[in-house]
Amino acid sequence: MTEIKAVGVVGSGQMGSGIAQLAAVHGLDVWLLDTDPAALSRATKSSTTNIHRLIAKGQLSQAAGNDALGHLRCSSNLEELRMADIVIEAIVESEDVKKTLFLELDRIAKTSAILASNTSSISITRLASATSRPCQVIGMHFMNPPPVMKLVEIVRGADTSDTTFYATKALAERFGKTVICSQDFSGFIVNRILMPMINEAFYALYTGVATKEDIDTGMKLGTNHPMGPLQLADFIGLDVCLSIMKVLQAGLGDNKYAPCPLLVQYVDAGRLGRKRGIGVYDYRAAEQPKKG
Ligand code: NAI
Repeated sequence: MTEIKAVGVVGSGQMGSGIAQLAAVHGLDVWLLDTDPAALSRATKSSTTNIHRLIAKGQLSQAAGNDALGHLRCSSNLEELRMADIVIEAIVESEDVKKTLFLELDRIAKTSAILASNTSSISITRLASATSRPCQVIGMHFMNPPPVMKLVEIVRGADTSDTTFYATKALAERFGKTVICSQDFSGFIVNRILMPMINEAFYALYTGVATKEDIDTGMKLGTNHPMGPLQLADFIGLDVCLSIMKVLQAGLGDNKYAPCPLLVQYVDAGRLGRKRGIGVYDYRAAEQPKKG
């Protein structure tokens, strides 16, 4: 089995920055890549703050924290990934953009390297088809935020080898995660079930069933969810939710997956959720969701 010592992460947004932090804290060499220098500097700032917070809480020794910070390198040059044993892609949820990246990664990464995708919904088999190494391509779907959430959903494409699967599973377990395994169908397990619920919450809001606060309170207290579906959508990113609904609709071919027009309108308006300061709720004035 490939021993993973060096990890490349492409995309330094919400997910990529968290995955890179997780890998660095677990003693791996990490290269974090993004085409947007502002995203890289936000990622560096948040990882540094988070690692210092772990040290302050006594969850990480000062020495281990310094090591983690030393292990984490940021770059906008994909060629840096040639030393990685695994590259985890966490860029925008678009099949075409991801395929273009996988083609490049296939050229750059060493022949033994695993190419993993953190995609929420896109076919691993189709991403693998952009490479000359489909047996080394796999879905490694972290939950948000990666350092905190306990689950990794592993998705095997049609040609993913056992060696690739067990090496990826071992890495997730090294990160302290519980692994579930999904076949390669749109949305896999978690988003196949979660996203239609979030979409339905948008329909409830769109058709005037209730206010956003009552929809969220209903699902929090009525079904014991830690946050309501509209708050969760803001946390995930409304653009990400919309992309996943489109993948479900195209892949599963059923009208029940049609994205709610209100979700589409919010994305068109740039109301992408917490990362933009406004989504279903307005976060610009205060930390907590407020009426708006
Ligand atoms: P994000 O929008 O926060 O970050 C995406 C980053 O990728 C941006 O910094 C952007 O500059 C960068 N990027 C875009 N194209 C690139 C390219 N060609 N090369 C290098 N960098 C590029 O998105 P987020 O939320 O981190 O999602 C990333 C992936 O993770 C998506 O596939 C998404 O479906 C998946 N995901 C998202 C979750 C969430 O809760 N937001 C949960 C689990 C998976």
